[in-house]
Amino acid sequence: MHIRNVREADFTECFEIARRAWPEFHERESIYHLFCKFFSNTSFIGEANAVTVAFLLGFISQVDREQGYIHLVAVEPAAQRTGAARELYERFFGEVGQLGVREVRLIVNPDNAASLAFHRKLGFTADLHGPTTEVDNVIAVKDYNGPGIHMVPFYRKIDSPRGRMQ
Ligand SMILES: CC(C)(COP(=O)(O)OP(=O)(O)OC[C@H]1O[C@@H](n2cnc3c(N)ncnc32)[C@H](O)[C@@H]1OP(=O)(O)O)[C@@H](O)C(=O)NCCC(=O)NCCS
Repeated sequence: MHIRNVREADFTECFEIARRAWPEFHERESIYHLFCKFFSNTSFIGEANAVTVAFLLGFISQVDREQGYIHLVAVEPAAQRTGAARELYERFFGEVGQLGVREVRLIVNPDNAASLAFHRKLGFTADLHGPTTEVDNVIAVKDYNGPGIHMVPFYRKIDSPRGRMQ
């Protein structure tokens, strides 16, 4: 897979991949556009034979430059379990690590078993501060994203400045 930074025009392909990969998930098109336009140095496209098959949308915190955040990753269903998301994460860790990031954070929906397994496999740890609740046998932070919207926050340290995976 060839990995490159997103370009503004990529945003439509990103939301089309997300809809195929995760039909239950609904995100406004404007969010994809915003990442592809304003966070292109920390957001990536994965291409196979010049076709987009995966993307990662991330950024570095404006208030803590040692924190990176991954908003969304998705892989075309036919390309899943081939290491595409892992490669995108490694690229993200490398890029933001060189910019001084030491910790990467993200949140996962507790009913998203694939994403939970993926992030645990990549060495992320759940950060279960505050009131918690159980969803499908998964402990999540209660009301993390508003009433009834429980989430599992994850974090992972990365080496800085080179961002090598631990
Ligand atoms: C989660 C997702 C991004 C993983 O992408 P992927 O490219 O298939 O993942 P990788 O091939 O890099 O997987 C790396 C490892 O993670 C784990 N993993 C990935 N998907 C898994 C699954 N469905 N079930 C269990 N473990 C999984 C495995 O250990 C895997 O290694 P292996 O295939 O050698 O066993 C993909 O399933 C997806 O696009 N889902 C829909 C969108 C989504 O949920 N995004 C995350 C939002 S928080």
